[in-house]
Amino acid sequence: MSTLADVFRGQAQHFEALGSPVYARLAEHLADDPLPALPLVGNDERWDVPLRLFAAVHYLVLSGDAPDALSGHFEDFAAALVEHEDALRARVETHGVQTNEVQRCTMLLPTFLAATAATGLPLELIELGPSAGLNLLVDRYRYRYANGSFGPADALLELTVEERGERVPAAVLERELVIRRRRGIDLAPVDATTADGYLLLRSFIWPGLDERVARLDAAVETLRRTPERPELIAGDYTEVLPALLADRPADALTVVFETFSTIYLPEVVARQLAEALEAAAGDGRPLAWASVRRWELGAGTDAAFELELRVWPGAEQVVARVDPHGNTLDWRP
Ligand SMILES: C[S@@+](CC[C@H](N)C(=O)[O-])C[C@H]1O[C@@H](n2cnc3c(N)ncnc32)[C@H](O)[C@@H]1O
Repeated sequence: MSTLADVFRGQAQHFEALGSPVYARLAEHLADDPLPALPLVGNDERWDVPLRLFAAVHYLVLSGDAPDALSGHFEDFAAALVEHEDALRARVETHGVQTNEVQRCTMLLPTFLAATAATGLPLELIELGPSAGLNLLVDRYRYRYANGSFGPADALLELTVEERGERVPAAVLERELVIRRRRGIDLAPVDATTADGYLLLRSFIWPGLDERVARLDAAVETLRRTPERPELIAGDYTEVLPALLADRPADALTVVFETFSTIYLPEVVARQLAEALEAAAGDGRPLAWASVRRWELGAGTDAAFELELRVWPGAEQVVARVDPHGNTLDWRP
């Protein structure tokens, strides 16, 4: 059984390794003495408790209610925990880890282009766990890959990716991507164009990760300027998806996709989801599935995940090996 101290100690290493020394020091302090956090987290010793607690404090900093809480001095942090105990407890209890990482579009774009090539049909996207739906705007951003670029020249956000091993071929990037409909199903969809929605997403970006903030800001501004915003459906996708699949068109390729959402599902639920897709594909209307899963051979490396694509009636194919944030891409042709 892990104790709260162990949870903070483990996360301290992640914070340090991934570029947030402020959080690393606070987490180390709480690992040695979790007492200041106890009134807020109670018996909750799940791995993501430090992420939820720090995001709650970060939200207060960003909204101006506790401007000094993340100054780097533990006394300032501890004082904010006492002063804002009720508000913080409520946030820690209510908000699961809520991030929307547009950098992951660097893996989604070539995948959707590959799906387009397989059928020649326009796409109807259904994202499972889209958060604010920023990745549903995949074609509104600009990309630079080793072998070419893609996307509007006047895009507000340009994404680059470190390509390892195989590169995305120029021929893939020269294809046209036609997205006819964009929908997502999320337990807690975020409207990033509201002050509260934006601050929620922003609060889960650790201090020190300025590039992520810049990407979030550019993506949210893109969303604001998009006349037809993605439709975000509130609900559990394991319950909502079958009805959407039953209703899908015959003249477009419905692409159900997800990044870093189904990986957290219990195995039995993940299997039910796979069975629902398989059953829907049986009716012959165009359907594809793109999803990130763990890559066992990659354990211990940063590229420990694979992106699989299946365009029925074809077989499942691994199209890329990736890291959790979309910073590296090893395209598998
Ligand atoms: C880690 S975030 C990833 C967000 C986005 N896919 C990305 O890559 O930036 C996971 C999202 O999945 C949603 N989620 C988790 N389980 C879900 C479920 N069973 N049904 C609907 N949404 C779910 C969460 O609310 C959250 O927004």
